[in-house]
Amino acid sequence: MKTKIINIEVLDESALADLEAVASLIRSGGTVVFPTETVYGLGADALNPQAIKKIFAAKGRPDDNPLIVHVASLDEVKPLVANIPEQAKKLMQVFWPGPLTIIMEKAASIPTEVTGGLNTVGVRLPDHPIAQAFIKMAGCPIAAPSANRSGRPSPTQGKHVLEDLDGRVDGIILSSDTDLGLESTVIDMTVEPPVVLRPGDITLAELREILGEVAVSANVTENVVPEKISSPGMKYTHYSPKGELVVVKGSPEEIRDKINRALSHHKGKSMTIGVLASDETMGFYQEGLIISLGSRNDPKEMAKNLFSRLRTFDELGVEKIFAEDIPLNNETLALINRLYKAAGYAFI
Ligand code: TXA
Ligand code: MG
Repeated sequence: MKTKIINIEVLDESALADLEAVASLIRSGGTVVFPTETVYGLGADALNPQAIKKIFAAKGRPDDNPLIVHVASLDEVKPLVANIPEQAKKLMQVFWPGPLTIIMEKAASIPTEVTGGLNTVGVRLPDHPIAQAFIKMAGCPIAAPSANRSGRPSPTQGKHVLEDLDGRVDGIILSSDTDLGLESTVIDMTVEPPVVLRPGDITLAELREILGEVAVSANVTENVVPEKISSPGMKYTHYSPKGELVVVKGSPEEIRDKINRALSHHKGKSMTIGVLASDETMGFYQEGLIISLGSRNDPKEMAKNLFSRLRTFDELGVEKIFAEDIPLNNETLALINRLYKAAGYAFI
């Protein structure tokens, strides 16, 4: 398949003409990758089952994993859902446009292909001018998972999208690197209390400020406490680099010593070893390819960098990666969730 690739930084007149060309691909049932503030998304008309099937084929995604439906304004939500709970309305007012996906009961018009057979649908209004203009021009709600091949780290840069999907989709809108770097927070508003199914940039504390009680899915809480993990590997592999990724736990000194021991153990062997460290700890290591995730004092920067750093290790042909563990708090929960998944819950 020949993919139409356009490049947009600013929404000027020529950009709008380019955007119209890819929006028309959506209207004719095609697939188009577009930037959002979280990660790039792989979109198709959410009301067209044939178009939705192309998303699953392009990604190699299991078809029981539901897609998020993206809208460009609040009025577009009503026709997608059976009803909008009062509490969900509040979330929309406070956090939209933004990195929050709200699960509600679906309207009959949403094809089951979008929701993986569930009677609920996740909806999000992204905070990105190109995403909003693109959805408006397409003239339909856009179902979009992250624009990576299934199992790979989500794409935060145009080059990641090209690596994974050039030739597998009808169109790609390339733009600047995404701002946040991790996918949206997903909250289920069909249950009482609401449940966070996936942590993201909108934190639990922020949600609780608006909603009061908010639960967290066992899939999330168990996974940040390794001793509690009942089934390592889980249902799908996720975010994985090509090399073997292991998270190193312990006090800062223990982490440093464990990694240095591992590095000296591998010294002289032909295997390429990497360390995912921080600005503050990079200097601890003398061997291997040392890459910083950012400053320990800036969890947002670390979150923004995680997926691109994992892909950098791939580009460098690194076969084994030791990642320093990150202290858990309200701001780091989403980052830790993705790091542990990427490692397939392998710890030393
Ligand atoms: O930031 C994001 O959310 C990005 C951008 C493109 O918007 N999208 C994204 O989509 O990350 P995806 O498909 O990679 O992740 C969607 C997540 C999955 O974990 C899926 O299981 C969950 O949301 N999800 C979607 N609809 C759901 C539903 N009706 N019930 C429960 N979980 C749902
Ligand atoms: Mg994804």
